[in-house]
Amino acid sequence: MESTMNTKGMLADFVEDLPKVELHLHIEGTLEPELLIALAQRNGVDIPYKTIEAARAAYQFEDLQSFLNVYYLGASVLREERDFYELTLAYMSRCKAQQIRHTELFFDPQTHLANGVALAAVMGGINAALRDAERDWHISSALILCFERDRDPEPSVAHACALGGIAGIGLDSAELGNPPEKFQEVFKVAKSMGLHRVAHAGEEGPPAYIWRALDVLDVERIDHGVRCLEDPALVRRLVDDRIALTVCPFSNVALKVFSRLSEHNLGRLLKAGLLATINSDDPAYFGGYLSENIIGTLSSLDLTAKDALLLERNAVEAAFCTDQRKQSLLRDLDQYDASHRNLL
Ligand code: HPA
Ligand code: ZN
Repeated sequence: MESTMNTKGMLADFVEDLPKVELHLHIEGTLEPELLIALAQRNGVDIPYKTIEAARAAYQFEDLQSFLNVYYLGASVLREERDFYELTLAYMSRCKAQQIRHTELFFDPQTHLANGVALAAVMGGINAALRDAERDWHISSALILCFERDRDPEPSVAHACALGGIAGIGLDSAELGNPPEKFQEVFKVAKSMGLHRVAHAGEEGPPAYIWRALDVLDVERIDHGVRCLEDPALVRRLVDDRIALTVCPFSNVALKVFSRLSEHNLGRLLKAGLLATINSDDPAYFGGYLSENIIGTLSSLDLTAKDALLLERNAVEAAFCTDQRKQSLLRDLDQYDASHRNLL
């Protein structure tokens, strides 16, 4: 049976219908070229690409920084509250189509503030779409405010946390040369406010940045974290404390963290007993949403439907939702598991 299940079509069918959870998704990274061009026109923002094809052709990256340049340029077309609503609703409708039952979204307030957009417009638009998706499609969600590590931690952004509508804070943008320490104070304040804490670490940066995210920022999950395997003591710490890694395989290949999907270390992360999950990061830029990431990765690494279930159970465990919601998500997975037993 195992070999039958491993045929690509059956694995793809299994993953497509599998109830899923996404934990690492930048909402600005879901800006598809069609909406990018439309918003540039609507808002009168001058960008270097005039057509959808020209935008797509620019999506070739050498590393994280070369991607971030394109990503922040794209984000500059988002100006009005309704832009954020439309962007977020488009992503949530992808979630509906891909059986994503719970999703946790990052946003980058400092980028929008620098573009002259009020935080109330950013958060108002995103949260309205999240509320509509919960009401109409029963998709639960959490919003995570990211500090951009190559900028200073702005007090006005820290104050935004107090406005409500935020489940936690994160740390993203250019990792190399920007270790976690600068953000110790804002992460301490966030914890005292009862907010969750995550940080990108060990994507391009060394294992030391993962240690410091854990020890200095007191994070509950590590975003990416794939370089942890270089440090066995770090792996033990992550395993013992059940710290989840929100791994993004298509992103890692697009940004040349791994040369190809078949070289990705996700299989080794799982074998080491790490609480690994699969996520899409910036799907409009990296060639696929969550289902494509899971199907592509499992088939490139000869992993199975059982591994897909494990990855989703890991994601439920690591999610920032109520225990009641987690029980409901786990029940859906158990049911899916039971009804596909003949295939597993
Ligand atoms: N890494 C760091 N910062 C980011 C990313 C990423 O993959 N995507 C958007 N901001
Ligand atoms: Zn990311």
